[in-house]
Formats: sequence, C-alpha cells, structure tokens
Amino acid sequence: MLKKIYHLGYAVEDITVAARFYEEHFGARVGKPEEVEEQGIVATMFDVGESRIELLEPTRPDSPVGKFLEKRGEGFHHVAFQVDDLEATLKELKESGVDLIDEKPRVGAGGTLTAFVHPRDAHGVLTELVELPKDRER
Ligand code: CO
Repeated sequence: MLKKIYHLGYAVEDITVAARFYEEHFGARVGKPEEVEEQGIVATMFDVGESRIELLEPTRPDSPVGKFLEKRGEGFHHVAFQVDDLEATLKELKESGVDLIDEKPRVGAGGTLTAFVHPRDAHGVLTELVELPKDRER
C-alpha cells in the first residue's frame, strides 16, 4: 500500500532563507515556491535522492502551518507517503476507523492528489498520503 516516503515537510518562518540554507550548505536545488491558497502556505521542494524535502511557510497565522509554527516553532511538520490509489486507500482507512483529516483527495501542488491522516491515530505524526498523476513517476 505504501510505495515510499514521498517527502518530509518542514515548517519554516521564511522559505527564502530556509531554501538558501539548503542550497549553500547542501548543494540542494530548490524549486520555485508555489502558493497553495486553500492551505494558507507557500511551498517548495528539493530532491534528496529518491525522496525530497518540502519547505512550508504559512501565508497567514491562522492557517494550520501558521498555528503549528506559533505553538511548536520551526521543524519537522509531516511525512508524506506515496500510494497508488489514494481514493481506495482513504476508503480502507475510513472503514478501519482511522481518523482522517481529509476523507476525499484534494488537488495539491503539481497536480498530485493528497490527503492527511490525523496525527492522533498516526502516533503523533501528521501523515500525508500522495498519489501522483498517471503520467508522472515522481
Ligand atoms: Co506535504
């Protein structure tokens, strides 16, 4: 059911400053930040081998990432697992009584489908499930 770790999400105060850190010190090639209005974030990614790191900066303090930053400060925010069929995965999870933040897939950056599982049930880790568009491998 889980194909691989698709990305790790980091909550940051300033996405430009954070991107520069990984570029300067780790040679990362960070993509152009993209705003996801619905989630109140600006996000970008850089590859780490097969996987990637997602940097998230809130665009408003009352967004989920904004609240996270205020409460916990910068740091690890969520893990994203790649799945083949998100709709079917969510259905199975729901039937097993797993607490879902999103019961239906949402369209995320780059045409991916994504949904979050509540950290309450996932042992304290906010867990995102991602399905890639059919014409995209990664
Ligand atoms: Co993510």
